[in-house]
Amino acid sequence: MNKYFLSIISILLLFQSFKVFDEIFYHEEEAKGSKIFAEVDDTDPDLTEDVNEKVEVAEKLDLDSLFVNFDVKKGEKIAKQCSACHDFSVNLKVKIGPPLWGVVGRKAAAISDYKYSDALVNFKKDWNRETLFSFLENPKNYVKGTKMIYKGLKKNSDRVNLISYLESLK
Ligand code: HEC
Repeated sequence: MNKYFLSIISILLLFQSFKVFDEIFYHEEEAKGSKIFAEVDDTDPDLTEDVNEKVEVAEKLDLDSLFVNFDVKKGEKIAKQCSACHDFSVNLKVKIGPPLWGVVGRKAAAISDYKYSDALVNFKKDWNRETLFSFLENPKNYVKGTKMIYKGLKKNSDRVNLISYLESLK
């Protein structure tokens, strides 16, 4: 009788320890998951949209905070890497690439006497801080099929300075 009693107790203890293990594990998973996903029910389109909006705003803010510090003079120096192919003057001269005077705020592929690649013609976005920031990091990756052969500027601060210089060309 005593033997059976002990076995039952040990089985109960075993189950109990599984439960404890489960709880620890569960809480760990919960802590790992992002707060957004823990709180939002994916099946509710309104809420998901709300989260997407928040993420977008967060990215925008991020770019704004990057542009708090910029140096137009440094940007002008970096632009020397571009000047073999691009004219930065108000004369809008076509070289290997299209002229870049007033490029910020301009539609992509907007210079009528320049023969753009189909990729850039079909890009159909405006050049602004956001699009330039991504394009100049890795042109071929951002506009697949572009004929701009340039490896890209990896440093955020270099791109911020360069774009600030481009913004000054008006
Ligand atoms: C080796 C030549 C070359 C270099 C270097 C180069 N580009 Fe370009 N760039 C091009 C060509 C060619 C195009 C046209 C791309 C197309 O049609 O796909 C272009 C297109 C662009 C466009 C789009 C303009 C428009 O009218 O839509 C921007 C912006 C631009 N380049 C910025 C830069 C900047 C800034 C640099 C320097 C960091 C740079 N490029 C370096 C050749 C170059």
